[in-house]
Amino acid sequence: MLDWILRQCTLPDGRQGVDIGIAQGRIAVVTPALNESAHQEWDCGGQLVSPPFVDAHFHMDSTLTYGQPRCNQSGTLLEGIALWSELKPSLTQDMIVERAMTYCDWAVAKGLLAIRSHVDVSDPRLLAVEALLHVQKRVSPYLDLQLVAFPQDGVLRSPGALDNLKRALDMGVNVVGGIPHFERTMEQGGESVRVLMELAADRGLMVDMHCDESDDPLSRHIETLAFHTQRLGMQGRVAGSHLTSMHSMDNYYVSKLIPLIREAGVAAIANPLINITLQGRHDSYPKRRGMTRVPELLAAGVDVAFGHDCVLDPWYPLGSGDMLEVAHMGLHVAQMTGQEAMRQCFDAVTRTPAKILGLSAYGLDVGCRADLVLLQARDPIDAIRLRANRLAVWREGRLIAHTPAVITQLNLPDRPPHTGLCLS
Ligand code: FE2
Repeated sequence: MLDWILRQCTLPDGRQGVDIGIAQGRIAVVTPALNESAHQEWDCGGQLVSPPFVDAHFHMDSTLTYGQPRCNQSGTLLEGIALWSELKPSLTQDMIVERAMTYCDWAVAKGLLAIRSHVDVSDPRLLAVEALLHVQKRVSPYLDLQLVAFPQDGVLRSPGALDNLKRALDMGVNVVGGIPHFERTMEQGGESVRVLMELAADRGLMVDMHCDESDDPLSRHIETLAFHTQRLGMQGRVAGSHLTSMHSMDNYYVSKLIPLIREAGVAAIANPLINITLQGRHDSYPKRRGMTRVPELLAAGVDVAFGHDCVLDPWYPLGSGDMLEVAHMGLHVAQMTGQEAMRQCFDAVTRTPAKILGLSAYGLDVGCRADLVLLQARDPIDAIRLRANRLAVWREGRLIAHTPAVITQLNLPDRPPHTGLCLS
């Protein structure tokens, strides 16, 4: 006897009329017309069933602080960093925990069950590290929270930051972060990449570095990150986040750079909502979009994920934990409107970040963890188009969230009453 059967599912790869059987928290069978019984069943009615959304890039220590102590007037990255520095001394561990737990509730409701969050280690008290390690443990039954030790104020620029970062790793944070473009010089930025990469190699850890988050066409830290990844044999364990300077780089140089990134096995994480709002702020017209070269990186075989980055914090006044909103913006900014390209945008918030985070047993194969999201949509493109309602969310075969379907009743003159609009 199975625990659950989800009947009449459409899967992201296009298979239709599929039944998914779940037993002991795992996917036990995936087949049409499953002739077995279960304790509970859900008729999915031909709608899309996907593995959960995964956010490859977030800041959970600053989330839900928007407006404190004031709003970002210039809309720039640098004013956001300054604002966050003003706010940090007044933060308490309880505040960080409470906001993070609220955000995790939002995430679960949206079918977002794995998040890589950077955590600022610049404050020697490491309050945010302690708080998010606590949250990580509390949410672990329903959400995978991976933490990155992130020296927001620069690992070389900020006194004591390297020691703080090492202490955070000793406490249990297990990804190394960095911010080379915020160091004092380009040379210091490159040096920070070397120091952090060697630290990660010594400890056998993954790396995810904020890299070249600027409009400067001459910023070269992704090249340095790829170089050290290759040198230290860390292929497949390193990600470069943002890479917005690539938007502005000379095309000839990029034609050399992208193959180097591919050869080094470095993944790229773009953050469309944030890149489109923070970058190009010093432009008049035309204004640059600022997002990295997503289609070109994908075409070269680089793993590219989309992250949310910020929700209601010093850098971004909006957001709701909805990775379909992220994919929707990424699709538009990158002009990825072809059928295959739109599907790649869905992958960029599901299976690609799952690979980058190293999530085990993720997916829809037999034996995978029964983490599933039922969407009010026919396929991945429809899901992005509608930012579709998440009808149900399962974690290890347990139903942990469900939301009624959105159905609009229309009563229009000259037409009989009917329902639906173009929602499904
Ligand atoms: Fe970030």
